[in-house]
Amino acid sequence: MRTMIRLAVAAGAAAAFAASIGAALGESTADEIAKYREALQDGNPAELWEARGEQMWKVPRGPNKVSFERCDLGLGPGVVKGAYAQLPRYFPDAKRVMDLETRLVWCMVQQQGMSEADALKNTFGNGSAKRSDLEALAAYVASQSQGIRMNVALDEPHVHDMYRLGEKMFYYRGGTHDFACATCHGDDGKRIRLQDLPNLTKVEGAQKAYTTWPAYRVSQGELRTFQWRLNDCFRQQRFPELAFGSDASIALTAYLAGRANGAAYAGPAIKR
Ligand code: HEC
Repeated sequence: MRTMIRLAVAAGAAAAFAASIGAALGESTADEIAKYREALQDGNPAELWEARGEQMWKVPRGPNKVSFERCDLGLGPGVVKGAYAQLPRYFPDAKRVMDLETRLVWCMVQQQGMSEADALKNTFGNGSAKRSDLEALAAYVASQSQGIRMNVALDEPHVHDMYRLGEKMFYYRGGTHDFACATCHGDDGKRIRLQDLPNLTKVEGAQKAYTTWPAYRVSQGELRTFQWRLNDCFRQQRFPELAFGSDASIALTAYLAGRANGAAYAGPAIKR
């Protein structure tokens, strides 16, 4: 409980800080965020989502009253420790490569008996009016891979195909502006508005970016998943909306997660 109060205070400080970022236009936003991370080191509001997700993991849910303790994320039913570090992976029961969020939805539908529409109702939260179970669950599961090295099975043929597809998509130019992911994320030191754009074509860039999602976004006061990150970048790219859990989203995730192989997972982090 004390942690909760401390976190609530931290979240308030976060909002104040977000305002001060706006004021400090002269300084690099990256420097400001680095300072901010330091200030909040042991009070990342992401912990609130993790705690909610952990609770949700254990209680019976849906028409079938089945908990996620039957949900196999690849390491056996209910096993969360280290599972995120090996996702996306191929699941023979679904005959599909899945990332964490897609697998959670699969367990809700196949095991808990929810309709797909219900499982996908709040993929992204919006304040206390619209809370996302998926974001909380993803935060909890991912947190259980902290310190564990990313180890996506790129030699598994299905995963390998998805990785290759993701790579193709990363360099594919299209839309009204003829942008590819690589247009914004293919050089060092690039910026858009005030934001530093990571160079995701370099292994270090991909590792640093991938291992910190899901992340608490200060500017939104929300915990966000990797599906959200991709969704927002499709918007930046002026592409049509990315369907949640689509093969396109999983291919891009497989590509970036695979490129992050070898780096210790360090999320859920805190971001601007
Ligand atoms: C028009 C520019 C633009 C395009 C095109 C674009 N992004 Fe982004 N991307 C951004 C911005 C802006 C951010 C957020 C930076 C911030 O918040 O500091 C971002 C952030 C990210 C991050 C998180 C980095 C981190 O360290 O947290 C990932 C991963 C990412 N993009 C992947 C992609 C992928 C994959 C594509 C192609 C589908 C893509 N982006 C296309 C602008 C773009």
